Amino acid sequence: MWTIELGRTGVQLPVLALGTWNFRDAARMGATIRAAVDLGVFHIDTAEMYPGAEEVIGTAVRDIRDRVFITSKVHPRHATYRGTLEACERSLRRLRTSYLDLYLLHWLERDTPLEETLRAFQTLLEQGKVRFVGVSNLDVSDLRRAQALFRPHALVNDQVEYNLTNRRIERDLIPYCREAGLTVSGYSPFWEGRIPRRRPEWRVLQDIATRYGRTPYQVILNFLARQRDVILIFKTESVEHLRENVAALDFVLAPEDVARIDQAFPP
Ligand SMILES: NC(=O)c1ccc[n+]([C@@H]2O[C@H](COP(=O)([O-])OP(=O)(O)OC[C@H]3O[C@@H](n4cnc5c(N)ncnc54)[C@H](OP(=O)(O)O)[C@@H]3O)[C@@H](O)[C@H]2O)c1
Repeated sequence: MWTIELGRTGVQLPVLALGTWNFRDAARMGATIRAAVDLGVFHIDTAEMYPGAEEVIGTAVRDIRDRVFITSKVHPRHATYRGTLEACERSLRRLRTSYLDLYLLHWLERDTPLEETLRAFQTLLEQGKVRFVGVSNLDVSDLRRAQALFRPHALVNDQVEYNLTNRRIERDLIPYCREAGLTVSGYSPFWEGRIPRRRPEWRVLQDIATRYGRTPYQVILNFLARQRDVILIFKTESVEHLRENVAALDFVLAPEDVARIDQAFPP
């Protein structure tokens, strides 16, 4: 699996990351996290608002903390200066770790005191409680605004939705971040599990998958990964699905199949 540099930090992350939103069974999620690390998917994504997720990760990676890259996120409701510091402490406790690898503002609300959040991020960086910081769900204009309030290149990541029916970022955010030296992570490649099976477009994916001896999930990841420098965050709590998803990158879609997917799911 290829790696992608996180911003301009020199840190390399695998193109695939494992999410932890909305899992059903903690033991299965924990086992899948362990299996993911063993398969090279050592970047685990979570957030303070994902029920039970930080605890599951903390337990699962307790003895392999240094082999894992953990991203967590502060809820905008907590994103004052003090609130962010406190939220981070709680996340650290739940994750049973002394540092987060990447800490993001989960999304921006109209009254989010962004300057305070960023000041808290600076404090956390100086204290060594987080290694890197970034944002989530910011469009280009809000991202520019956040960058202008912070040190150059200090924000290293914007995590946003990216799937076949939401490809807008290919036009604006991805090119902008390439230029500005941030890494984009795309979440919900499988529409949070709400696969549009009844839509005719889904049949296109199924048809292509059948011809390659693959699954539609693999075709989706393979197609999205063609960006090369966007991290794809999927969630699974099934080791079988994990293996399937990790194996999604070892084939090349023919140009005519790329064109069919483009036609079915226009950017
Ligand atoms: N920053 C944000 O605001 C934000 C928002 C949403 C998500 N995220 C992050 O991104 C992660 C991924 O997004 P997501 O959780 O929304 O959904 P997703 O990855 O689009 O879809 C997850 C669903 O797909 C299923 N699945 C995965 N691989 C499969 C396979 N090979 N075959 C069949 N089913 C498969 C999973 O079921 P099984 O578990 O049974 O495999 C689960 O139901 C989240 O967990 C979270 O970490 C961030």
